[in-house]
Amino acid sequence: MEIQEARRRLEDARRVAVLTGAGVSAESGIPTFRGAGGLWEGFRPEELATPAAYARDPEKVWRWYAMRYTQVMAAEPNPAHLRLAELEQRKGDGFLLVTQNVDGLHLRAGSRRVVELHGSITRARCERCGHRQPLPPPDAFTPPPVCERCGGRMRPDVVWFGEFLDAELLARAERAFMTAEVALVIGTSAVVEPAASLGRAAKASGAYLIEINPEPTPLTPLADLSLRTSASEGLKTLLPTGS
Ligand code: APR
Repeated sequence: MEIQEARRRLEDARRVAVLTGAGVSAESGIPTFRGAGGLWEGFRPEELATPAAYARDPEKVWRWYAMRYTQVMAAEPNPAHLRLAELEQRKGDGFLLVTQNVDGLHLRAGSRRVVELHGSITRARCERCGHRQPLPPPDAFTPPPVCERCGGRMRPDVVWFGEFLDAELLARAERAFMTAEVALVIGTSAVVEPAASLGRAAKASGAYLIEINPEPTPLTPLADLSLRTSASEGLKTLLPTGS
């Protein structure tokens, strides 16, 4: 049976690479981008998540990110985040969690071997000197933050449409997926590059590819197993011994 095979592969694998998207945080009450009620509904990404939008109206962009920051700090990691942190504990150095999410919930769930490909809305980055610093607690936060090092204005430390990802982070993610024995792709519509190619790269390199998503995605035909369910249910099925 496919699920038994997937469980055995996951149990035996020394090298496991995981990619998560907004779907893994949906059960923490954080809306996804493209589903019904998604974050982009009512907004156009071009109006908020691009360098041009920020240059045009930094206060508007910071208002949107401050609202999302308040939202994610009020949210709690859900069982999917917790199970992935447990899986990391079991796999150690052979494990890497690559996330497209900027909500910081994997870190709050205890994951440490994490690559935040698109950055994090819990941090700001100085436009002048590039210094990064965490945002103050939401109730003590008045955007825009000021750089503690040079006094310059700071922007959200996230990757906007049209911007390049951190080359070192992307290289680390690609290495993990191309050497993984098992690749897990959870809660992503698999349409935004370059993250969307990680699952394909793993498959092409011989990994056993598992997807968890209530909806099919462009990756589904490639997956050895595609669980049509939520992140927490799918991980409970694959990792029955977790909390
Ligand atoms: N469990 C698992 N998956 C879920 C759940 C759930 N409970 N609920 C929804 N999903 C799935 C949806 O079916 C969809 O395929 O999560 C996916 C969310 O897709 P998107 O909203 O497109 O989010 P994501 O794939 O992370 O977007 C990638 O696009 O807008 C940019 O930078 C942004 O990082 C984001 C990137």
